[in-house]
Amino acid sequence: MGKKNKILNVENIQTYYGVSHVIQGLSMFVEEKEAVSILGRNGVGKTTTLRSIIGLTPPRSGSIFINGKETTRWQPHKISRLGVAYVPAERHIFPGLTVEENLRMAARPGNGKDAWTIEKICDHFPILAERTAQNGATLSGGEQQMLAIGRALISNPKIIIMDEPSQGLSPLLVQMITDVVLKFCVQSGITLLIVEQNYRMALKVADRHYLMDNRGEIVSIASTRELEDNPEIIQSHLAV
Ligand SMILES: Nc1ncnc2c1ncn2[C@@H]1O[C@H](COP(=O)(O)OP(=O)(O)OP(=O)(O)O)[C@@H](O)[C@H]1O
Ligand SMILES: [Mg+2]
Repeated sequence: MGKKNKILNVENIQTYYGVSHVIQGLSMFVEEKEAVSILGRNGVGKTTTLRSIIGLTPPRSGSIFINGKETTRWQPHKISRLGVAYVPAERHIFPGLTVEENLRMAARPGNGKDAWTIEKICDHFPILAERTAQNGATLSGGEQQMLAIGRALISNPKIIIMDEPSQGLSPLLVQMITDVVLKFCVQSGITLLIVEQNYRMALKVADRHYLMDNRGEIVSIASTRELEDNPEIIQSHLAV
């Protein structure tokens, strides 16, 4: 009783690019309906960790479990079919497709009345609703990020994994994206793993934080409360 289901469990992974040993023994987990962040300076291996999890850069050793199933070194499309939605920092909108086509390509049926559909996206994302027929290439950075999040939601995933959604956006847009992530992911009970350098955003959306240092090591795990009460923890790990 009371034991929560781990949607994601990463055990001691080692990930390389060729001979470059980027992730040197990283372990972490995300429980069902949890919102968790990974914080760390430029180049410590945050994106590589996410790429290891979703199968784009599989770890050479260690294990990854999604919903209890070992998925280490599975192909990305197989991992995605388990209900893992990835929102890359570059957003990867299809530039030649319209907003609606971008959404339809990612759509997967969900369960019950809370499932995300094109109609529901249009109801909740006015910015996208006004632009359904507009080409992906013509969207602004903030609009692309909204579309990337909409595309993740419409796949009705078990977990959404986001890489630096605030990257390159103005403070006002970061605020809008923060609100969207809070309202539609965190408060609606979708499990979230978010990587951020903008720790203010991470503290707003996530409850638990992994602080990552060079060599892709987790050096500290803290709650939002602990980080707010002890800003020197963030200073020592994130300040440049
Ligand atoms: N395709 C690649 N080939 C070789 N080395 C890479 C490749 N991608 C990343 N690296 C290196 O791996 C290390 C970790 O990179 P990664 O992108 O995971 O860091 P990050 O924490 O996401 O950084 P950032 O904050 O800049 O996004 C860096 O030293 C980077 O130069
Ligand atoms: Mg990165």
